[in-house]
Amino acid sequence: MAEASITFHDLHPTADDLASDVLAGFSRPQKSIPPKYFYDAEGSRLFDAITELPEYYPTRTEMAMLRKYADEIAQKAGTGHLLVEPGSGSCGKARILFEGLQPCAYIPMDISGDHLRVAAEAVAADYPWLEVHAACTDFTRLMTLPPSSPEGRRLAFFPGSSIGNFDPDRAVGFLRMIAEMVGPGGQLLIGVDLKKERRILEAAYNDAQGVTAAFNLNLLTRINRELGADFDLAQWRHRAFYNQAEGRIEMHLVSRVDQLVRLAGHTFAFAEGETIHTENSYKYSVEEFRDVAARAGFTTDTVWTDDDNLFSLHLLQTEVTNEE
Ligand SMILES: C[S@@+](CC[C@H](N)C(=O)[O-])C[C@H]1O[C@@H](n2cnc3c(N)ncnc32)[C@H](O)[C@@H]1O
Repeated sequence: MAEASITFHDLHPTADDLASDVLAGFSRPQKSIPPKYFYDAEGSRLFDAITELPEYYPTRTEMAMLRKYADEIAQKAGTGHLLVEPGSGSCGKARILFEGLQPCAYIPMDISGDHLRVAAEAVAADYPWLEVHAACTDFTRLMTLPPSSPEGRRLAFFPGSSIGNFDPDRAVGFLRMIAEMVGPGGQLLIGVDLKKERRILEAAYNDAQGVTAAFNLNLLTRINRELGADFDLAQWRHRAFYNQAEGRIEMHLVSRVDQLVRLAGHTFAFAEGETIHTENSYKYSVEEFRDVAARAGFTTDTVWTDDDNLFSLHLLQTEVTNEE
């Protein structure tokens, strides 16, 4: 049996990045923190717990679709690509595709370094025929592949509706980065959460066990630890709701009282009821997302949806250029 093969490239963002992003976010009228900072080791653990919750339909729906359509995806996308997954998390969804796609290498990329290392090593151990080149990186800044990656046709995989964390114009910009990374004739398989009844959407982000609340509040624990801030977690609560006009779930941390918080040499005042906006999760119709993809230079090959119209999977490709 072939040896498991893995390389690991660490381009991890630093505490300075966290400090400058939080200070910039807190200087706006609506205070905010970029959602990428959810994912320290505890945040990644809590996200995995969220994916198991009864209310959180996206993960189980998308995984069932990947299982159902794995052969069809391989037929349409072809085999032997370099499979690149930005925001790979626990790599559970890519595992469903390996047998069918037979990639020449797998490139998981994630901002959560230790979580990525464990997940990538587990993939390498379970699929000894597969080269794994992991990169700990912030995909909003850098989409370059690890230098050790082999040459090959590129298929990007971006499941989990993480595209919903960008507003639609920024989603176009991010997809353009992917289009550039996969190159002419390259492909993208992307999971996109669909617009649906408010009741289903809001339940998914307000679970009865409070795991999503813990995930949201963990941001403050992280900022206390890494930036020496003094957030009192008892004085904050989780809030998530569907903003119909914008077509997005919004997550906020709500101040329970008037309070002052010290952070990196600054003092911030929060009024009772004031919020820190921590995440958007935009929802799309199939047609709306097709339009976003087209604006980024992708044509749609195939769209799959589940029977309940909860979630969509889009296989996209960039134009093949004829270089004379
Ligand atoms: C919503 S989870 C999805 C995980 C997995 N792809 C799935 O579908 O279950 C988002 C993942 O992207 C990673 N992530 C978030 N922002 C990132 C960024 N700016 N750069 C790299 N990884 C990021 C997180 O650490 C996390 O693993």
